[in-house]
Parts: sequence; C-alpha cells; structure tokens
Amino acid sequence: MIVTSCGNSRTIAKKLAKKLSAPYSPLTLTSFPDGDIYLRYNTDVKGKKVIIVQSFQPLSDASLFHIIFAAEAAKNQGAKKVILVSPYLAYMRQDKAFNSGEAVSSRIMAKLLNQCIDKIITIDPHLHRYKSLKDIFTIPAKCLTANHLIAQYISKHFKNEVIIGPDWESYQWAEHIAKDIHVNVTVLEKTRFSSRKVKVKMMDTIPLRGKNVIIVDDIISTGHTIAEAAKQAQKLGALSITAIGVHGLFVDNALDTLKKAGVTKVITTNCIEHKTNKIDITPLLLEELKKEK
Ligand code: R5P
Repeated sequence: MIVTSCGNSRTIAKKLAKKLSAPYSPLTLTSFPDGDIYLRYNTDVKGKKVIIVQSFQPLSDASLFHIIFAAEAAKNQGAKKVILVSPYLAYMRQDKAFNSGEAVSSRIMAKLLNQCIDKIITIDPHLHRYKSLKDIFTIPAKCLTANHLIAQYISKHFKNEVIIGPDWESYQWAEHIAKDIHVNVTVLEKTRFSSRKVKVKMMDTIPLRGKNVIIVDDIISTGHTIAEAAKQAQKLGALSITAIGVHGLFVDNALDTLKKAGVTKVITTNCIEHKTNKIDITPLLLEELKKEK
C-alpha cells in the first residue's frame, strides 16, 4: 500500500500513512507551459494499493482532474487497486437540473470517478435528493460521518447549549448530534433565492434566551445560510452563537459575513484544511483504511 495526495490533504495523507505503516509518496504535479497537467509517481506502484487522499477544496475542478490523472496513471503503471479518500467531495449540491439545460454536476463527477477508481471513501457528502452515494456511484462508496466527533467536541467545550440546523437537510447533522449529547434542537426552513441569498424561518420554536446556540451544517460556503440562522438566534436572545461546519469552504468573505451576523466562534473539521479546524477526522478514515491492509 502507498499513500499519496494531489496536494489538498497532505497533512491527513501523511498522518494516515504513518498510522498505516505505509509509505507516503508525494506526486510531482505541475503543469506544462500551456497549462496541461504534468503528473508523475515517484515510487513504483506496480501491484500495490494506491490510496489517493484529496479533498476537493480548494479548486474543485483542478482536484477532479488531478484525481483522474493520478488514478489513471496508477492503473497504467500496474496498481492493484486505487482508493480515493476525499474527506470533502465537491459537486454534490447540484443533484438535479434546477433549471432546464443545467448539467447535473454530481452525476458527471461520479461518472468520471467510476471509470478510474475502485473505491471512494468520503465524509458527510451533501446527500439531499440522493438517498445514498449508490445513487450515483457504481464502485464501492463508503460514506462516513463526523457527527460523533462533533458531538464529543460540543460536550467537552460547551454548557447550556442548544443546536440549530439552518435548513431542512441539515437535520442529518443537527438532530443526530443533539440526540447524541441529549440537548434541544430545531431545524429551520430555508428558501434559497440565489447562491448568495437565502432566507430562513424557525418552524418549531425552542427557547434560545440565555442559551449557547450552536448552528451545525455540513458545508459553510459563503456563510449566508448560517448567518441568517444566527440573526434569528440573536433576535431570540441567544447568549452566544457558534457555527460548526463539517466542511469549511469559506468563499467570498464568509468569516466576515458570519461575524457581522453575530457568530462569535467558527469551528470546522479538518476535512478541508483551514485555520478554523478543531475537530480531527483522521481516526474515521484510519478505521476504514485498516480494512484494506
Ligand atoms: C446546502 O444546502 C448546504 O447544506 C449548506 O447549507 C450550504 O451549502 C451553505 O452555503 P452558504 O454558506 O453559501 O450559505
């Protein structure tokens, strides 16, 4: 077994390699003067299992191409099996054509990966209209969740807390985490007007006055979803407001958007490397990869 990465998840890749007692071998990944990708393995992969550890952020398009090149190159050089470990899997939110003529990106991404890798392992992919990854992947696709790690983090660092999920599909995180640590939870209803404009409404009101409110979602992208939920929590008298995201993309000025809405702390897992990372998901991946030893 060898562990490699296309650049985005080097820290996790190295940790995994160490724990698996497998070599970590970085790829040479550059581009020709015209922009064409140049990729080279610096170790012999013939007959080996190749684990490519790569989150799709930053640069989801480049990540997808790099993964395809890395997987195809490994296969061409005789690798026994290619496993993609993508703590953050991009393109999942476009799970239908919302307007006529649109590409269903998640299906296209999965179709490309189905052709070149043998297994994918990911953490909390955005499953909304799909029931499971099987809806789009024909290869074995393992979906892990950071819920318990987040629950443990909350119980260690907070008191007198309640949990809010900022939109319907966030129940998968908010409700599960709240149940795990026996705290109150409510999930809001979101209307999305554009990729940067949303409105949320509290359907089942729970007491927030004097509470430490924790808003949990899978993805923090522009931050507007959580910011809208935070504004509601502020109006209802929250003592403090914390945002926890499994995947912190932080596009535009997301951290500022959250701060302006009254969020005082932002916490993420290291599915995507960022200064807000406080929850390490490596143990989840390790358990899964041990089965491949
Ligand atoms: C979508 O429904 C996701 O679960 C997140 O709520 C969404 O991606 C967050 O995006 P933003 O931070 O741009 O509002």
